[in-house]
Amino acid sequence: MSDNAASSPNNLDAFWMPFTANRQFKSNPRMLVGAKGMFYNNAEGQPILDGTAGLWCCNAGHAEPRIVEAVSKQIAELDYAPAFQMGHPKIFELAARVTGMFPSGLDHMFFTNSGSESVDTALKIALAYHRARGEGARTRLIGRERGYHGVGFGGISVGGIVANRRTFGTMLTGVDHLPHTHLPEKNAFSRGQPEHGAELADELERLVTLHDASTIAAVIVEPVAGSTGVILPPKGYLERLRAICDKHGILLIFDEVITGFGRLGSAFATDFFGVKPDLVTLAKGLTSGTIPMGGVVCSKDIYDAFMTGPDNMIELFHGYTYSGHPVAAAAGLATMDCYKEEGLFERANEIAPYWEEAVHSLKGAPHVIDLRNLGLIGAIELESIPGKPTARAFEAFLKCYEKGVLIRTTGDIIALSPPLIVEKKHIDQIFDTIRTVLDEVA
Ligand SMILES: Cc1ncc(COP(=O)(O)O)c(C=O)c1O
Repeated sequence: MSDNAASSPNNLDAFWMPFTANRQFKSNPRMLVGAKGMFYNNAEGQPILDGTAGLWCCNAGHAEPRIVEAVSKQIAELDYAPAFQMGHPKIFELAARVTGMFPSGLDHMFFTNSGSESVDTALKIALAYHRARGEGARTRLIGRERGYHGVGFGGISVGGIVANRRTFGTMLTGVDHLPHTHLPEKNAFSRGQPEHGAELADELERLVTLHDASTIAAVIVEPVAGSTGVILPPKGYLERLRAICDKHGILLIFDEVITGFGRLGSAFATDFFGVKPDLVTLAKGLTSGTIPMGGVVCSKDIYDAFMTGPDNMIELFHGYTYSGHPVAAAAGLATMDCYKEEGLFERANEIAPYWEEAVHSLKGAPHVIDLRNLGLIGAIELESIPGKPTARAFEAFLKCYEKGVLIRTTGDIIALSPPLIVEKKHIDQIFDTIRTVLDEVA
């Protein structure tokens, strides 16, 4: 055993933390050791109000009793079942429950273990679908600037984040991008969907002219981009994108990893915006963050296109050892029960106006250059310190944590997304803390 692998719980060396400033963290760790409802507890015994539902995932709040019980029971009853050529009842039930929450026509669900896997799965289904229909030349994938679709090679390729392009080489070929819809010069301080920018969807027509529709398989967008700083779709934008995809036989994929399961006060962004995609990627809120699980919902047309040929043949050459894991399935079913019985999507919708007022109450606070909101999502964009991008927001994050509130930052944007059980008093605490912190940061 090497020296630094000693069994001391205080040894932080071995774990290479994801998306984390490792050296900064390890010099002053922020350890969470428990959670209940709206709060974490840290190792110092301090309650930390969760302003971000973990990572946009714990929509039902922490340690929800139904989910805890279902997971505990399931692991004793059936810990694992092979995912290929075998099944177990709960995963069929979960697929029916989730697809039943979508508009009719989005009828089938494939299971994964994360948002990243859901994205790669959806892209692969799109390519295979066109091939199955005899349009195998449709191989091009269109993403969007400032899109985040997880960390797989497919996801980073259709995503629009410069750090991925700088760091990981050429990625997938045959990918192009729409422009992002962040237009602060026209839309700053919008409440809800911004007025300006629907015409940016027409850029898809430009890409069709450039590449020809017969080479394009799919367009993937987040209906509301979360991880790159809460970028909202301008009014009419998603509708236009849908119409152009329809015109050219291009599949439309909504990445609802963040917007799924009540974040906007409706089950999915698909029904919130009234725009029906062909494929939807899900994760996070599917199990309220308790057990890793993702999924792809797809249209009947897509599924049916695969159900041809000899019926002993595998139709889609894709899947994971843990696709539809029994414990995750139990967590998913209990999560759906909780959403329904507690009326959490309606609750999110009811409290959203209070949330909107709270977000926009920060207008005029130091460093604030834009405020945005939709459903139970909020963004506070700060002016960057010249030559030190991200420094100001990160300092705000650390100071909020010291004062007992967990926020999330991306660049110099504070992104907020509390569990759907959030109450007015919690919203007040989140924004009072941020207001105090904005007065203190450099
Ligand atoms: C829109 C979107 N897609 C995909 C992902 C990736 O999900 P995961 O981290 O579970 O792989 C995320 C994660 O935040 C996301 O926001």
